Amino acid sequence: MAKSPGIDSRAVRHESMDDWKRKPKIKMKGLILAGGKGTRLRPLTYTSAKQLIPVANKPILFYGIEAMADVGIEDIGIVVGDTHRDIRSACGDGSRWKVNITYIQQESPLGLAHAVKISRDFIRDDKFCMYLGDNILRDGLHDIIAEYEKTRANSLILLTTVPNPQQFGVAEVDRMGNVTRLVEKPAEPRSNLALVGVYLFDKRIFQACENIRPSARGELEITDAIQFLITSGYTVRPSMVNGWWKDTGKKDDLLDANRLVLQNIGRDVQCEIRGQQPIEGNVIAHKEALIMDSRIRGPVIIGKEAKIENSYIGPFTSIGPGVQIRGSEIEHSIIMEGAEIIDIDTRLADCVLGKNSLMTMSGERPKAVRAMLGDNSQVSL
Ligand code: TTP
Repeated sequence: MAKSPGIDSRAVRHESMDDWKRKPKIKMKGLILAGGKGTRLRPLTYTSAKQLIPVANKPILFYGIEAMADVGIEDIGIVVGDTHRDIRSACGDGSRWKVNITYIQQESPLGLAHAVKISRDFIRDDKFCMYLGDNILRDGLHDIIAEYEKTRANSLILLTTVPNPQQFGVAEVDRMGNVTRLVEKPAEPRSNLALVGVYLFDKRIFQACENIRPSARGELEITDAIQFLITSGYTVRPSMVNGWWKDTGKKDDLLDANRLVLQNIGRDVQCEIRGQQPIEGNVIAHKEALIMDSRIRGPVIIGKEAKIENSYIGPFTSIGPGVQIRGSEIEHSIIMEGAEIIDIDTRLADCVLGKNSLMTMSGERPKAVRAMLGDNSQVSL
Protein backbone atom coordinates (compact mmCIF):
# COMPACT_ATOMS: atom_id res chain seq x y z
CA MET A 1 0.00 0.00 0.00
CA ALA A 2 1.16 3.53 -0.67
CA LYS A 3 2.18 5.39 2.45
CA SER A 4 0.44 8.68 3.08
CA PRO A 5 2.88 11.59 2.95
CA GLY A 6 1.00 13.00 5.91
CA ILE A 7 2.73 10.49 8.14
CA ASP A 8 6.27 11.37 7.19
CA SER A 9 7.29 14.55 8.94
CA ARG A 10 10.15 15.02 6.44
CA ALA A 11 7.65 15.37 3.70
CA VAL A 12 7.33 19.13 3.44
CA ARG A 13 5.56 19.10 0.13
CA HIS A 14 6.76 21.47 -2.53
CA GLU A 15 4.21 20.67 -5.16
CA SER A 16 4.06 23.15 -8.00
CA MET A 17 0.81 24.53 -9.39
CA ASP A 18 1.48 22.50 -12.58
CA ASP A 19 1.93 19.29 -10.59
CA TRP A 20 -1.34 20.02 -8.89
CA LYS A 21 -3.22 20.68 -12.08
CA ARG A 22 -1.89 17.42 -13.56
CA LYS A 23 -2.96 15.38 -10.54
CA PRO A 24 -6.13 13.39 -11.24
CA LYS A 25 -9.06 14.77 -9.23
CA ILE A 26 -11.78 12.44 -8.03
CA LYS A 27 -15.41 13.27 -7.93
CA MET A 28 -15.80 12.48 -4.30
CA LYS A 29 -16.13 14.80 -1.35
CA GLY A 30 -14.47 14.55 2.03
CA LEU A 31 -16.21 14.88 5.38
CA ILE A 32 -14.08 15.19 8.50
CA LEU A 33 -15.76 15.07 11.90
CA ALA A 34 -14.11 17.51 14.27
CA GLY A 35 -16.87 18.30 16.75
CA GLY A 36 -17.59 15.98 19.68
CA LYS A 37 -17.08 16.31 23.41
CA GLY A 38 -13.54 15.01 23.91
CA THR A 39 -14.34 13.98 27.50
CA ARG A 40 -11.69 11.26 27.51
CA LEU A 41 -8.93 13.75 26.85
CA ARG A 42 -9.75 16.21 29.59
CA PRO A 43 -8.19 18.46 30.81
CA LEU A 44 -6.52 19.07 27.42
CA THR A 45 -9.92 19.43 25.77
CA TYR A 46 -11.05 22.15 28.20
CA THR A 47 -8.85 24.61 26.33
CA SER A 48 -8.25 23.02 22.94
CA ALA A 49 -10.00 20.91 20.33
CA LYS A 50 -8.82 17.33 20.64
CA GLN A 51 -8.32 17.19 16.87
CA LEU A 52 -5.69 19.94 17.21
CA ILE A 53 -3.57 18.08 19.73
CA PRO A 54 -0.19 17.61 18.06
CA VAL A 55 1.16 14.21 17.09
CA ALA A 56 4.80 14.52 15.98
CA ASN A 57 4.26 18.31 16.22
CA LYS A 58 1.39 18.32 13.74
CA PRO A 59 -2.31 18.58 14.67
CA ILE A 60 -4.04 15.21 14.34
CA LEU A 61 -6.65 16.77 12.08
CA PHE A 62 -4.04 17.68 9.48
CA TYR A 63 -3.26 13.99 8.87
CA GLY A 64 -6.82 13.46 7.69
CA ILE A 65 -6.85 16.58 5.51
CA GLU A 66 -3.52 15.58 3.95
CA ALA A 67 -4.74 12.04 3.28
CA MET A 68 -7.74 13.49 1.41
CA ALA A 69 -5.70 16.05 -0.50
CA ASP A 70 -3.30 13.28 -1.43
CA VAL A 71 -5.99 11.23 -3.23
CA GLY A 72 -7.25 14.29 -5.09
CA ILE A 73 -10.33 15.10 -3.00
CA GLU A 74 -10.82 18.83 -3.54
CA ASP A 75 -13.88 19.68 -1.45
CA ILE A 76 -13.71 18.88 2.23
CA GLY A 77 -16.44 19.60 4.76
CA ILE A 78 -15.34 19.80 8.39
CA VAL A 79 -18.05 19.28 11.01
CA VAL A 80 -17.26 21.51 13.98
CA GLY A 81 -18.77 22.04 17.41
CA ASP A 82 -17.87 24.22 20.39
CA THR A 83 -14.22 24.43 19.35
CA HIS A 84 -15.03 25.73 15.86
CA ARG A 85 -13.01 28.94 16.22
CA ASP A 86 -9.75 27.07 16.90
CA ILE A 87 -10.39 24.60 14.09
CA ARG A 88 -11.27 27.35 11.62
CA SER A 89 -8.17 29.34 12.48
CA ALA A 90 -5.91 26.25 12.26
CA CYS A 91 -7.24 25.01 8.89
CA GLY A 92 -8.44 28.21 7.21
CA ASP A 93 -9.92 27.85 3.75
CA GLY A 94 -7.77 24.82 2.94
CA SER A 95 -5.59 26.59 0.38
CA ARG A 96 -2.49 25.39 2.21
CA TRP A 97 -3.40 21.88 1.03
CA LYS A 98 -4.92 23.12 -2.25
CA VAL A 99 -8.39 22.00 -1.16
CA ASN A 100 -11.58 23.95 -0.41
CA ILE A 101 -12.75 23.62 3.17
CA THR A 102 -16.37 24.24 4.13
CA TYR A 103 -17.23 24.32 7.84
CA ILE A 104 -20.45 22.66 8.95
CA GLN A 105 -21.61 23.71 12.40
CA GLN A 106 -23.13 21.01 14.59
CA GLU A 107 -25.15 22.62 17.37
CA SER A 108 -24.26 19.84 19.81
CA PRO A 109 -22.50 16.47 19.60
CA LEU A 110 -25.54 14.38 18.78
CA GLY A 111 -23.62 11.53 17.16
CA LEU A 112 -21.67 10.60 14.05
CA ALA A 113 -24.83 9.93 12.03
CA HIS A 114 -26.17 13.33 13.11
CA ALA A 115 -22.97 14.90 11.77
CA VAL A 116 -23.64 13.12 8.45
CA LYS A 117 -27.26 14.23 8.43
CA ILE A 118 -26.41 17.93 8.79
CA SER A 119 -23.84 17.67 5.99
CA ARG A 120 -26.43 16.86 3.29
CA ASP A 121 -26.38 20.32 1.69
CA PHE A 122 -22.62 20.18 1.40
CA ILE A 123 -22.39 16.59 0.07
CA ARG A 124 -25.45 16.82 -2.23
CA ASP A 125 -25.58 13.64 -4.36
CA ASP A 126 -21.84 12.97 -4.40
CA LYS A 127 -20.06 10.00 -2.94
CA PHE A 128 -17.97 10.90 0.05
CA CYS A 129 -15.26 9.75 2.38
CA MET A 130 -16.01 10.30 6.04
CA TYR A 131 -13.00 10.51 8.33
CA LEU A 132 -13.09 10.89 12.11
CA GLY A 133 -10.96 13.92 12.86
CA ASP A 134 -9.16 12.29 15.78
CA ASN A 135 -8.03 9.25 13.76
CA ILE A 136 -4.78 8.61 11.91
CA LEU A 137 -4.55 5.97 9.20
CA ARG A 138 -0.99 5.07 8.20
CA ASP A 139 -1.63 3.95 4.68
CA GLY A 140 -3.72 6.82 3.44
CA LEU A 141 -6.85 6.49 1.33
CA HIS A 142 -5.65 5.44 -2.14
CA ASP A 143 -6.37 1.72 -1.90
CA ILE A 144 -9.71 1.93 -0.13
CA ILE A 145 -11.08 4.51 -2.52
CA ALA A 146 -9.94 2.38 -5.46
CA GLU A 147 -11.64 -0.64 -3.87
CA TYR A 148 -14.85 1.32 -3.30
CA GLU A 149 -14.92 2.46 -6.92
CA LYS A 150 -14.36 -1.13 -8.07
CA THR A 151 -17.04 -2.77 -5.91
CA ARG A 152 -19.76 -0.20 -6.68
CA ALA A 153 -21.13 -0.82 -3.19
CA ASN A 154 -23.29 1.77 -1.45
CA SER A 155 -20.82 1.86 1.38
CA LEU A 156 -17.39 0.55 2.18
CA ILE A 157 -16.33 0.32 5.80
CA LEU A 158 -12.82 -0.17 7.10
CA LEU A 159 -12.22 -2.98 9.55
CA THR A 160 -9.35 -4.16 11.67
CA THR A 161 -8.98 -7.15 13.98
CA VAL A 162 -8.84 -6.25 17.66
CA PRO A 163 -8.33 -8.31 20.83
CA ASN A 164 -11.13 -6.44 22.70
CA PRO A 165 -14.09 -6.12 20.30
CA GLN A 166 -16.40 -5.35 23.23
CA GLN A 167 -15.07 -1.79 23.13
CA PHE A 168 -15.77 -1.14 19.45
CA GLY A 169 -18.43 -1.15 16.77
CA VAL A 170 -18.15 -4.76 15.54
CA ALA A 171 -18.94 -6.09 12.05
CA GLU A 172 -20.07 -9.53 10.97
CA VAL A 173 -19.13 -10.49 7.42
CA ASP A 174 -20.58 -13.40 5.37
CA ARG A 175 -18.73 -15.77 3.05
CA MET A 176 -19.55 -13.57 0.06
CA GLY A 177 -17.66 -10.72 1.70
CA ASN A 178 -20.71 -8.62 2.51
CA VAL A 179 -21.24 -6.99 5.88
CA THR A 180 -24.32 -8.60 7.39
CA ARG A 181 -24.54 -7.00 10.81
CA LEU A 182 -23.03 -4.21 12.87
CA VAL A 183 -23.24 -4.05 16.63
CA GLU A 184 -22.01 -1.19 18.80
CA LYS A 185 -19.86 -2.41 21.71
CA PRO A 186 -21.43 -5.91 21.93
CA ALA A 187 -21.23 -7.73 25.28
CA GLU A 188 -20.74 -11.00 23.38
CA PRO A 189 -19.06 -10.11 20.08
CA ARG A 190 -19.57 -12.57 17.19
CA SER A 191 -16.40 -11.39 15.44
CA ASN A 192 -13.18 -9.57 16.27
CA LEU A 193 -13.61 -7.12 13.38
CA ALA A 194 -13.80 -3.57 14.66
CA LEU A 195 -14.86 -0.53 12.68
CA VAL A 196 -12.09 1.94 11.91
CA GLY A 197 -12.85 5.67 11.71
CA VAL A 198 -12.93 5.96 7.91
CA TYR A 199 -16.07 5.19 5.86
CA LEU A 200 -17.10 5.58 2.22
CA PHE A 201 -20.70 6.34 1.43
CA ASP A 202 -23.04 7.24 -1.38
CA LYS A 203 -26.20 9.32 -0.92
CA ARG A 204 -28.19 6.36 0.49
CA ILE A 205 -26.61 7.05 3.87
CA PHE A 206 -28.73 10.20 4.21
CA GLN A 207 -31.88 8.13 3.90
CA ALA A 208 -30.47 5.84 6.60
CA CYS A 209 -29.61 8.75 8.92
CA GLU A 210 -33.17 10.06 8.57
CA ASN A 211 -34.63 6.69 9.55
CA ILE A 212 -32.77 5.88 12.74
CA ARG A 213 -33.51 6.91 16.30
CA PRO A 214 -31.05 8.05 18.99
CA SER A 215 -29.38 5.22 20.89
CA ALA A 216 -29.46 4.71 24.67
CA ARG A 217 -26.65 7.27 25.01
CA GLY A 218 -28.74 9.81 23.10
CA GLU A 219 -26.67 9.84 19.89
CA LEU A 220 -27.51 9.00 16.29
CA GLU A 221 -25.07 6.14 15.79
CA ILE A 222 -23.32 5.60 12.48
CA THR A 223 -23.43 1.83 13.13
CA ASP A 224 -27.25 2.05 13.25
CA ALA A 225 -27.28 4.01 9.98
CA ILE A 226 -25.05 1.43 8.27
CA GLN A 227 -27.20 -1.37 9.72
CA PHE A 228 -30.21 0.39 8.17
CA LEU A 229 -28.44 0.26 4.78
CA ILE A 230 -27.86 -3.49 5.18
CA THR A 231 -31.42 -4.18 6.31
CA SER A 232 -32.78 -2.12 3.40
CA GLY A 233 -30.88 -4.29 0.91
CA TYR A 234 -28.05 -1.92 0.03
CA THR A 235 -24.54 -3.28 -0.28
CA VAL A 236 -21.98 -2.63 2.41
CA ARG A 237 -18.53 -4.04 1.76
CA PRO A 238 -15.67 -4.40 4.22
CA SER A 239 -12.04 -3.55 3.62
CA MET A 240 -9.32 -4.66 6.00
CA VAL A 241 -6.79 -2.05 7.17
CA ASN A 242 -3.30 -3.24 6.37
CA GLY A 243 -1.12 -0.68 8.11
CA TRP A 244 -1.74 0.69 11.55
CA TRP A 245 -4.66 2.87 12.45
CA LYS A 246 -5.08 4.90 15.61
CA ASP A 247 -8.06 6.52 17.27
CA THR A 248 -6.38 9.12 19.48
CA GLY A 249 -9.36 9.57 21.80
CA LYS A 250 -7.41 8.65 24.97
CA LYS A 251 -4.00 9.57 26.38
CA ASP A 252 -2.30 6.21 25.78
CA ASP A 253 -3.62 6.10 22.21
CA LEU A 254 -2.25 9.58 21.66
CA LEU A 255 1.20 8.46 22.83
CA ASP A 256 0.89 5.36 20.66
CA ALA A 257 0.04 7.45 17.60
CA ASN A 258 2.99 9.72 18.37
CA ARG A 259 5.29 6.67 18.55
CA LEU A 260 3.95 5.19 15.31
CA VAL A 261 4.31 8.46 13.39
CA LEU A 262 7.81 9.13 14.76
CA GLN A 263 8.84 5.62 13.71
CA ASN A 264 8.71 6.84 10.12
CA ILE A 265 10.61 10.11 10.34
CA GLY A 266 14.05 10.66 8.88
CA ARG A 267 16.96 12.70 10.14
CA ASP A 268 17.06 16.45 9.66
CA VAL A 269 18.95 18.26 12.36
CA GLN A 270 19.14 21.92 11.41
CA CYS A 271 19.36 23.57 14.79
CA GLU A 272 22.33 24.98 16.66
CA ILE A 273 24.07 22.38 18.81
CA ARG A 274 26.42 23.38 21.60
CA GLY A 275 28.50 20.81 23.46
CA GLN A 276 29.74 17.35 22.59
CA GLN A 277 26.80 15.11 23.39
CA PRO A 278 25.51 12.88 20.58
CA ILE A 279 22.34 13.35 18.55
CA GLU A 280 21.57 9.73 17.70
CA GLY A 281 19.23 8.27 15.11
CA ASN A 282 16.28 9.90 13.42
CA VAL A 283 15.92 13.36 14.84
CA ILE A 284 14.19 16.33 13.24
CA ALA A 285 15.13 19.61 14.87
CA HIS A 286 13.89 22.99 13.65
CA LYS A 287 16.62 25.38 12.59
CA GLU A 288 15.59 27.85 15.28
CA ALA A 289 15.79 25.28 18.09
CA LEU A 290 18.80 25.07 20.39
CA ILE A 291 20.36 21.96 21.90
CA MET A 292 23.01 22.51 24.59
CA ASP A 293 25.01 19.78 26.33
CA SER A 294 22.17 17.33 25.80
CA ARG A 295 21.88 13.80 24.53
CA ILE A 296 19.09 13.18 22.05
CA ARG A 297 18.21 9.64 21.03
CA GLY A 298 15.69 9.50 18.21
CA PRO A 299 13.14 9.19 16.93
CA VAL A 300 12.55 12.65 18.30
CA ILE A 301 11.08 15.82 16.80
CA ILE A 302 11.98 19.26 18.17
CA GLY A 303 10.02 22.37 17.22
CA LYS A 304 10.88 25.98 16.53
CA GLU A 305 12.56 27.94 19.33
CA ALA A 306 12.60 24.92 21.63
CA LYS A 307 15.59 24.97 23.98
CA ILE A 308 17.05 21.80 25.47
CA GLU A 309 19.82 22.20 27.98
CA ASN A 310 21.79 19.65 29.99
CA SER A 311 19.10 17.03 29.41
CA TYR A 312 18.36 13.64 27.86
CA ILE A 313 15.55 13.29 25.33
CA GLY A 314 14.77 9.65 24.63
CA PRO A 315 12.95 7.87 21.79
CA PHE A 316 9.42 8.70 20.69
CA THR A 317 9.30 12.20 22.10
CA SER A 318 7.75 15.24 20.41
CA ILE A 319 8.95 18.58 21.73
CA GLY A 320 6.72 21.43 20.58
CA PRO A 321 7.72 24.95 19.61
CA GLY A 322 9.03 27.19 22.37
CA VAL A 323 9.40 24.31 24.86
CA GLN A 324 12.21 24.64 27.42
CA ILE A 325 13.78 21.54 28.96
CA ARG A 326 16.65 21.93 31.43
CA GLY A 327 18.41 19.41 33.65
CA SER A 328 15.80 16.70 32.98
CA GLU A 329 15.31 13.35 31.26
CA ILE A 330 12.25 12.50 29.20
CA GLU A 331 11.12 9.87 26.74
CA HIS A 332 8.00 8.55 25.00
CA SER A 333 6.11 11.80 25.55
CA ILE A 334 4.34 14.72 23.92
CA ILE A 335 5.38 18.13 25.23
CA MET A 336 3.26 20.88 23.75
CA GLU A 337 4.08 24.43 22.80
CA GLY A 338 5.63 26.64 25.46
CA ALA A 339 5.81 23.97 28.20
CA GLU A 340 8.77 23.98 30.60
CA ILE A 341 10.44 21.07 32.36
CA ILE A 342 13.14 22.25 34.71
CA ASP A 343 15.52 20.18 36.90
CA ILE A 344 13.28 17.15 37.38
CA ASP A 345 15.53 14.46 38.86
CA THR A 346 13.46 11.41 37.90
CA ARG A 347 13.11 10.34 34.29
CA LEU A 348 9.76 11.34 32.81
CA ALA A 349 8.04 8.83 30.52
CA ASP A 350 4.59 8.52 28.91
CA CYS A 351 3.80 12.16 29.65
CA VAL A 352 1.47 14.46 27.77
CA LEU A 353 2.05 18.06 28.83
CA GLY A 354 -0.35 20.72 27.61
CA LYS A 355 0.62 24.14 26.30
CA ASN A 356 2.60 26.39 28.65
CA SER A 357 2.52 23.85 31.49
CA LEU A 358 5.39 23.90 33.96
CA MET A 359 7.12 21.04 35.78
CA THR A 360 9.94 22.04 38.07
CA MET A 361 11.94 20.87 41.08
CA SER A 362 12.09 23.82 43.41
CA GLY A 363 14.70 22.55 45.89
CA GLU A 364 12.69 24.20 48.69
CA ARG A 365 12.68 22.55 52.16
CA PRO A 366 10.78 20.61 53.31
CA LYS A 367 10.90 18.50 50.14
CA ALA A 368 7.37 18.08 48.83
CA VAL A 369 5.42 17.69 45.63
CA ARG A 370 3.76 21.05 45.04
CA ALA A 371 1.21 21.27 42.26
CA MET A 372 -1.51 23.28 40.65
CA LEU A 373 -3.40 20.82 38.44
CA GLY A 374 -6.44 21.59 36.32
CA ASP A 375 -9.65 19.60 36.67
CA ASN A 376 -9.22 15.95 35.58
CA SER A 377 -5.41 16.18 35.50
CA GLN A 378 -3.45 12.99 36.12
CA VAL A 379 -0.09 12.61 37.86
CA SER A 380 1.52 9.26 38.55
CA LEU A 381 4.49 9.60 40.97
P1 TTP B 1 -15.78 10.35 19.51
O1 TTP B 1 -14.35 10.22 19.93
O2 TTP B 1 -16.54 9.09 19.36
O3 TTP B 1 -16.58 11.29 20.52
P2 TTP B 1 -16.13 12.53 21.36
O4 TTP B 1 -15.29 13.48 20.56
O5 TTP B 1 -17.38 13.12 21.92
O6 TTP B 1 -15.14 12.00 22.50
P3 TTP B 1 -15.37 11.46 24.00
O7 TTP B 1 -15.99 10.09 23.83
O8 TTP B 1 -13.97 11.39 24.57
O9 TTP B 1 -16.23 12.43 24.73
O10 TTP B 1 -15.86 11.14 18.14
C1 TTP B 1 -15.08 10.76 17.02
C2 TTP B 1 -14.85 11.98 16.15
O11 TTP B 1 -16.08 12.50 15.67
C3 TTP B 1 -14.16 13.12 16.89
O12 TTP B 1 -13.29 13.79 15.99
C4 TTP B 1 -15.29 14.02 17.26
C5 TTP B 1 -16.28 13.83 16.11
N1 TTP B 1 -17.70 13.99 16.48
C6 TTP B 1 -18.46 14.97 15.85
O13 TTP B 1 -17.95 15.74 15.02
N2 TTP B 1 -19.79 15.07 16.18
C7 TTP B 1 -20.38 14.25 17.08
O14 TTP B 1 -21.59 14.39 17.34
C8 TTP B 1 -19.57 13.24 17.72
C9 TTP B 1 -20.18 12.30 18.72
C10 TTP B 1 -18.25 13.14 17.38
